[in-house]
Amino acid sequence: MVTILGIESSCDDTSAAVIRDGLLLSNVIASQKVHEEYGGVVPELASRAHQQNIVPVVDTAIKRAGIEAKDLTAIAFTRGPGLLGSLLVGTSFAKGMSLGLRIPIVDVNHLHGHVLSHFIKQAPDDEVPEYPFLCLLISGGNSQLILVKNYNDMEILGRTIDDAAGEAFDKCAKVMGLPYPGGPHIDRLAAEGDPKRFKFAKPRIPGLDYSFSGLKTSFLYTLRDNVKLNADFIEQNKADLAASLQATIIDILIDKLDKAVKQTGVKTVAIGGGVSANSGVRRAVADYCARHGLKAFIPQRVFTTDNAAMVAIAGYFRYLDGQFCRYDAAPFARVEV
Ligand code: KG4
Repeated sequence: MVTILGIESSCDDTSAAVIRDGLLLSNVIASQKVHEEYGGVVPELASRAHQQNIVPVVDTAIKRAGIEAKDLTAIAFTRGPGLLGSLLVGTSFAKGMSLGLRIPIVDVNHLHGHVLSHFIKQAPDDEVPEYPFLCLLISGGNSQLILVKNYNDMEILGRTIDDAAGEAFDKCAKVMGLPYPGGPHIDRLAAEGDPKRFKFAKPRIPGLDYSFSGLKTSFLYTLRDNVKLNADFIEQNKADLAASLQATIIDILIDKLDKAVKQTGVKTVAIGGGVSANSGVRRAVADYCARHGLKAFIPQRVFTTDNAAMVAIAGYFRYLDGQFCRYDAAPFARVEV
């Protein structure tokens, strides 16, 4: 029996989870509300909140799993990418706990966690993707098309050359006067709007790379020009603006996904990261896969944002491989898959 405690502290969620032989026993997430009034994550406040949260979060995860700390086989932690101060809290905690329990630590790349979240089982016969598969990883910091050949062999086929998909949602939401993070607000408003009402610029860049900065600018100009004529333009059209913005982002995402599917010939497509919580994105990817005879893996919403279950599953695979981490390992702010 291999029982892994996962710890995630890369940004503004403190999370701990327990996975036994690939089966999820618990997943506890403490989100930090302190950032809301600043319109974005404040790194110094994030690390302080992690320090306050980490002991109760880990303790709760172990209790909810119905185990004791002495039953753990290893501790997996997010080593990067993320905010250095936040990562340091999880990294130091994992090291200290592992020394106390005399069990190994396993370092996890947060992006691998998002990709491998599809392997978290909540029941023994849950279906998991077959390799190779394509993963569209879309979050506040990343937009990547990844060819996943194995749990430890991933190739980035395309990435954003400017903003991430989540940033496009958040920045456009900000100019509409919506709170941070704006993605979920756009999602909610879009459900009531007309996606064809406004046309925004789409990038024309070759290959599989993404770009969202042109869309952001064209959204901004549409608002600016119309507000000059009608001061209430945004308020009166917010649902149509949100629906049209979301539809454009989805078109951009699906266009490159389609190219990547044709280029690689994969039969399975997965999505991951915060933006994969978006209702329109989920529907569009499921429809695309159904039309093309592909198997789609759409994560449960709880596994789309930062969570330790994905860290524990990625750590579980590394543990089975004997990939342990040294105690002098420092976290890293930036790293690729
Ligand atoms: O993966 P994630 O939790 O962490 C970062 O990379 O920071 O992703 C956060 C991003 C934010 O940009 C947020 O607006 C976006 O995911 N997001 C959404 C939705 N839920 C979260 N975007 C669109 N629709 C949603 N429902």
